[in-house]
Amino acid sequence: MNTSVKAAKHFRGEFTVPGDKSISHRAVIIGALSYGTTIIEGFLHAADPLSTISCFQSLGVSSSFDENKLRIFGKGLHGLKKSATLLNAGNSGTTIRLLTGILSGQNYSTVISGDEFLVKRPMKRIIDPLQQMGAAIHHSGSMTAPLTIDGRFPLRPIIYELPIASAQVKSAVLLAGLFAEGVTSVIESEPSRDHTERMLNLSSTQSNGKTVVSITGGMELQGRMFLVPGDPSSAAFFIVAGLILPNSEITIRNVGLNPSRTGFLGILKKMNGNISIENDRIIGGEPVGDIVVRSSQLKTNMILDGAIIPNIIDEIPILSVAAAFADGSFTVSGAKDLRNKESDRITAVCRNLKRMGIDVEEFDDGFAFEPKNNFLPQDFHSYGDHRIAMAFGVAALALNGESTIVDSECVSISFPAFWDIVHRLQH
Ligand code: S3P
Repeated sequence: MNTSVKAAKHFRGEFTVPGDKSISHRAVIIGALSYGTTIIEGFLHAADPLSTISCFQSLGVSSSFDENKLRIFGKGLHGLKKSATLLNAGNSGTTIRLLTGILSGQNYSTVISGDEFLVKRPMKRIIDPLQQMGAAIHHSGSMTAPLTIDGRFPLRPIIYELPIASAQVKSAVLLAGLFAEGVTSVIESEPSRDHTERMLNLSSTQSNGKTVVSITGGMELQGRMFLVPGDPSSAAFFIVAGLILPNSEITIRNVGLNPSRTGFLGILKKMNGNISIENDRIIGGEPVGDIVVRSSQLKTNMILDGAIIPNIIDEIPILSVAAAFADGSFTVSGAKDLRNKESDRITAVCRNLKRMGIDVEEFDDGFAFEPKNNFLPQDFHSYGDHRIAMAFGVAALALNGESTIVDSECVSISFPAFWDIVHRLQH
C-alpha cells in the first residue's frame, strides 16, 4: 500500500497515542508466567504485541479482550507447554529475543522464527549469554532465526556484562534468570530502557558507573493489573509535526515519560522546541504526563553520540526529520546498531533525506547533514519499517505539495491508526 500525504498548513488538536509497545509485550509475558489472571489496560493492539500473544497461545496461554481490557490467563512459571508448531514472532525483535530467554529455561525444544525482516536480524547477542546459562540454541548458520532452542531447567545463573546496550538482550537474560538456580545479574554501562526491571520489581545497584540488575530464579509471580501508558516513541512523530508546521498546537494525553525513553524530548527542547509537560504523575510504576507542543523555529548544530544513543534509538529517524527542517548541522554517530533494526535505519534515513535534496554523508555508525530549505514533495520509501514510514510521513506534511509513502502499511506494527490521525489533524 502507498499513502499520499499532502502539505499541511498547520497541525492542531488533542489526542492520545496507542499504548507503549515495550510495556505491552512485557505485560503479556509477565502475565503468562504469573499464577492467575493478569488484566492489561491500554494494551497496544498492533501487530508486534499481537505476535507475543499468539506465541503464548501456542505455548498454552490463553487470553481474551473485552471492554478495552486484555486478560491473560497465566500458567505460572512452570506451566508453559511445548508448542506443536513453530512460534511466529512476525516482525517483532522484542518477541523473539525475550521469548528465547524464557524458552531457554523450558525442558523441551522450541523453534521460533519470524518474517522476512526478522530473519535477517542478529541473534548472536542473545544466543551467547543464553548458551552460557546452559541452553543449546541452533540457528540458521549466520546467527539468525529460525532458532531452535533446546531449553534446560534449571539454567545456570550468570553475571553478564552486556557487550552492546540493548534492553532486549538485558530482558532476555533476566527472564531466563527466572528459570536459573540462584541469582542472575546483568551489567550495563550505557543505560537502556528499564521496563522489565520496573515491572518485575527487580533491584538494581550502581557499581563503577555501571548498573547491575539482578533477578532470583524461581521468583513467584501473581496475576495483577497493568496500566499501559501511551508510547512516547509513537508520540514523537506528532511532537515533531507540531514543532515543524507553522501555527500548530497539539496536546498528547497520557504519554509514558520513563526517563530511559525521553531523551528525544530533551534534544528537541535543546533544538528550541516549545514542548511542555502537564499533569505529570506516576501510573503503574511508570511516569506519565500530557505533552503540549507549539510550532517552533528549530536550530540544531548538534552531534548525537555516546550514552544518549540507546535512550533515543527508536527516535533517531524522526529526530533526523526534525533536523531536516532546522537551521544548522546534525550528526549522529556511535549508532551502528541502527543498522540492525526493522530495516537498516542508517541507510533508510540517508536515502530518504537524499530524496529531499539534502546532501547527507553516511558513515558506518551514523550520518551527518546540513539541511537546505524549500524541499519539494517526494516518493519516500518505508523499507518495510514502521518508524521510517512514520518519520517521512511527518516530513511529507512539511513539504510543498503531495508526497507518497511507499509501503506505508507497515505502520500497523506499532501504530495502526497513524495515517488516520495524520489526516484528521492536518489542516
Ligand atoms: C525494545 C528495545 C530496543 C528498541 C525496540 C524495543 C524493547 O531494542 O529498539 O524497539 O522493548 O526492549 P534494543 O534493546 O535491541 O536496542
